[in-house]
Amino acid sequence: MDRVIIFDTSLRDGEQAPGFSMNTAEKLEMARQLARLNVDVIEAGFPISSDEDFEATREVARQVGTLEGAPIICGLSRVGLMDIDRCWEAVKYARRPRIHTFVATSDIHLKYKLRKSRAEILQASVEAVKHARSYCEDVEFSPEDASRSDFDYMCDVLSAVIEAGARTINIPDTVGYAIPREWGERIARIREKVRGMDKVVLSVHCHNDLGQAVANSVTGVMNGARQVECTINGIGERAGNASLEEVVMALHTRKDFFGVETGVRTEEIFKASRLLSHITGIHVQPNKAIVGENAFAHEAGIHQDGVLKEKLTYEIMRPEDIGRPSNKLVLGKHSGRHALAARLKDLGFDLAGSELDRAFKKFKDLADRKKEVFDEDLMSIVTDEATQGPETYGLEYLHVISGTGVVPSATVKLRRDDQVFQDSGVGDGPVDAVLAAMEAITGLKGRLLDYSLRSATSGKDAIGEVSMKIDFDGTVVSGRGSSTDVIEASARAYLSALNRVVQPVGQRMTEVGP
Ligand code: KIV
Ligand code: ZN
Repeated sequence: MDRVIIFDTSLRDGEQAPGFSMNTAEKLEMARQLARLNVDVIEAGFPISSDEDFEATREVARQVGTLEGAPIICGLSRVGLMDIDRCWEAVKYARRPRIHTFVATSDIHLKYKLRKSRAEILQASVEAVKHARSYCEDVEFSPEDASRSDFDYMCDVLSAVIEAGARTINIPDTVGYAIPREWGERIARIREKVRGMDKVVLSVHCHNDLGQAVANSVTGVMNGARQVECTINGIGERAGNASLEEVVMALHTRKDFFGVETGVRTEEIFKASRLLSHITGIHVQPNKAIVGENAFAHEAGIHQDGVLKEKLTYEIMRPEDIGRPSNKLVLGKHSGRHALAARLKDLGFDLAGSELDRAFKKFKDLADRKKEVFDEDLMSIVTDEATQGPETYGLEYLHVISGTGVVPSATVKLRRDDQVFQDSGVGDGPVDAVLAAMEAITGLKGRLLDYSLRSATSGKDAIGEVSMKIDFDGTVVSGRGSSTDVIEASARAYLSALNRVVQPVGQRMTEVGP
């Protein structure tokens, strides 16, 4: 059957959106899951945009791109030759590296953003593709703002870059402006008009500003596109990109209609979605297609009755098709290391040695506090463990007094190397008091920009997961912490953010204009 290439850009276009930025460890953890999901291409970053993004892309290429059967590892670059050099430096370690270069072709972008003529852009595109081809065979080109570009001019650029050696031509609806029928016609016309199109892969990349990203992507497929660029949970600039799980499950469930297949292991979809939520602290809405909490819940009596009699009445997909766990009790207080390792392996975390030791200790602590330990609890523990950066300050002790008619106060002890520091603070509430005590110890003042608390599972003893965004003197970092005690979870979240500024991995440039 005809195969559609799934190109995941969660770590590039997805990560660019506010609140979704990921550090190297987080990108690596996500990239490992994308490899298990068996996507064909991982776009790991935009290496010239910052030292941190360069490092993350390089590490994904080195640590994930070198595995047996690994996906192609791609980096994004503008058409500038230095951008391309930097991109190659990052992706070259992968078994199958790809350079993705792009430039806008719409008159609006040419006139106001690039201040260049059509001829100049065409020439820069050709030079960029030739330069990228001097490094590797796998080169992708995108005419940014394709949906608003003059059709004939854009086709001239595409014919020229194919002649220069581009192997994939990606058509982005950068501003989410297209409507499915019109978009489908545009894709079909590109196929007809562009010289050499039959020898390269035609791709679509749709944004969701008008809520049409998935519809436009699958309409692209119906009109000959054989690569779809998408993101887990549909994260991305503004209203996001086409959601991978929706595109894949639409093509999978309606194979009878589309007549195509993907290589995605659909049973890994749920894990990928939850992992991304754990990492970013941003959860999908309950009614989100495929991965939302209610996506498989039949509440209405008439539906429940039908499903009980015959699942086919209302169920077009099964929860197990996307690897959704039944949320059953998995482990208890007496479960051993071996049982934990086996369960974690089922969840996609292959831990051994000291990593497993730490996870086991956390699991035992949790099992002491909480009678029933669910898959979601384990994911919470392990994701925290796998994605925290180096720990400069560690939490040793926390004591909080709070209540009605009391001024909330906190005493905190933090460990740095082999020294322990203690201080206390008061605040508007217990979290404020804990943060004040930590500021007194570290001397670092952070402004809390965003705070969210969510329970990992149901039940009064559930783990609370706290995500924070904090501004430390102009450097905005995020942090995450979890515990059955929500004040402790808040302290841990703050500390994980603080550890990022005391040991910055790299300096992120705030904006890179094409
Ligand atoms: O939306 C867009 O135009 C992009 C390109 C870089 C492909 O993300
Ligand atoms: Zn995009």
